[in-house]
Amino acid sequence: MDKIIVHGGRPLSGFVKISGSKNSALPILAATLLTRDQCIIHSVPDLSDIHYMLQILSHLGAQVERASGTVTIQAENVATVAPYEIVRKMRASVCVLGPLLGRHKEARVSLPGGCVIGDRPIDLHLKGFRALNAACRVEAGDVRVFADELRGSTVDLEGRQGPTVLGTGNVLMAATLAEGITVIEGAAAEPEVVDLANFLTKMGAKIEGAGTRRITVEGVKELHGAEHCVIPDRIEAGTFLVAAALAGTVVTLRRVCADHLKAVTNTLSDAGYKMDITRDTITLHGNGSPRPVHIVTEPYPGFPTDMQAQMCALLSRAPGESTVTETVFPQRFMHVSELKRMGADIALEGATARINGVPHLSGAPVMASDLRASAALVLAGLVAEATTEVNRVYHIDRGYESIDEKLAGLGAEIQRVKQGN
Ligand code: UD1
Repeated sequence: MDKIIVHGGRPLSGFVKISGSKNSALPILAATLLTRDQCIIHSVPDLSDIHYMLQILSHLGAQVERASGTVTIQAENVATVAPYEIVRKMRASVCVLGPLLGRHKEARVSLPGGCVIGDRPIDLHLKGFRALNAACRVEAGDVRVFADELRGSTVDLEGRQGPTVLGTGNVLMAATLAEGITVIEGAAAEPEVVDLANFLTKMGAKIEGAGTRRITVEGVKELHGAEHCVIPDRIEAGTFLVAAALAGTVVTLRRVCADHLKAVTNTLSDAGYKMDITRDTITLHGNGSPRPVHIVTEPYPGFPTDMQAQMCALLSRAPGESTVTETVFPQRFMHVSELKRMGADIALEGATARINGVPHLSGAPVMASDLRASAALVLAGLVAEATTEVNRVYHIDRGYESIDEKLAGLGAEIQRVKQGN
């Protein structure tokens, strides 16, 4: 397993180009299963989660070609059973259920287990499929969904923790080929859902309201091929903004959608950072210590849960008390114990982290536990005294394209040490 070694204290400056969004690309790639025609997707990031999705599509029978950031897929004939060996590696594999159900009225995928950020059920996905007249069964560790015909209806996908992003995408994909009108109430309004809806619309789907809490889909008989460019990754962008806030002099992010990052840029502004923002660039001026802030994670357009760990790293250095409350995944605090090992003063009270800023963090060997937690540890390492060794970086490779190279390009002293598995 590779590890990343960061020598803290090097100032960051310059430009960094943000990659295509992982969370947009995954359901969009799955959506290509809805048609026999060829689809061309640009700006697909080079990440292990994307490789797993492409493997699943190939296994299902699709022709997949990849040339740098462009993926060409033709799913002329596809099977309906996704292989356990690949599916178990990535929870987002579940988003092939919707398109397979839409096209073949049948799909079978291994049921995703829990993960370190908590129990991650798919009951809302299944509620949506049932509303479309499908039956859902758990058989030998798999979830099987099937229907004689899919019929549109109204379904509320709001759960106890708010809307579901992949669940909205899954039901939306199935509904494009259902008979009649489907109304998804309590839909997720994340930009990644809008990107998926835009791609489906290019394929011939009839969708209104994407980006709001109520999406209406008028089913069509079939979808056709389409070409699409994935939106920039707002979480990668936010992570580089935090890196710049922690260790930057002047850092400019290119190829961002600044509109998607308002909750993050507003919070950084509250923390005392000056930013110059255009439609597709953000320049952050580093200014030493941040001011403490109080953050509550929420569904879009609120502060994203996927930026919570990185903000904990930043606020560890903000003199005074900050609080970070997690409402989307209340158990998502695995990074706290590792940040404490680097000298951070953080107390957990239920789903709230109370952070008292310290003047210095110190490098340590730390263990990445999930994708965003590992990013937080790398960020902390940028300003920690001495050397931070982040182990199990396969987590970070799931969601960040060449993070070590991009940070090195900004001036960080960071190396990846390759190790046999
Ligand atoms: C997506 C993102 C992930 C992000 C999350 C929340 C992808 C590939 N992943 O995950 O990075 O952190 O949105 O913004 O896009 N829930 C249920 N029942 C369900 C589904 C979800 O109770 O059937 C709960 C979850 O446990 C969680 C909340 O709803 O508490 C939100 O989860 P959800 O939006 O579904 O997350 P994902 O779509 O899996």
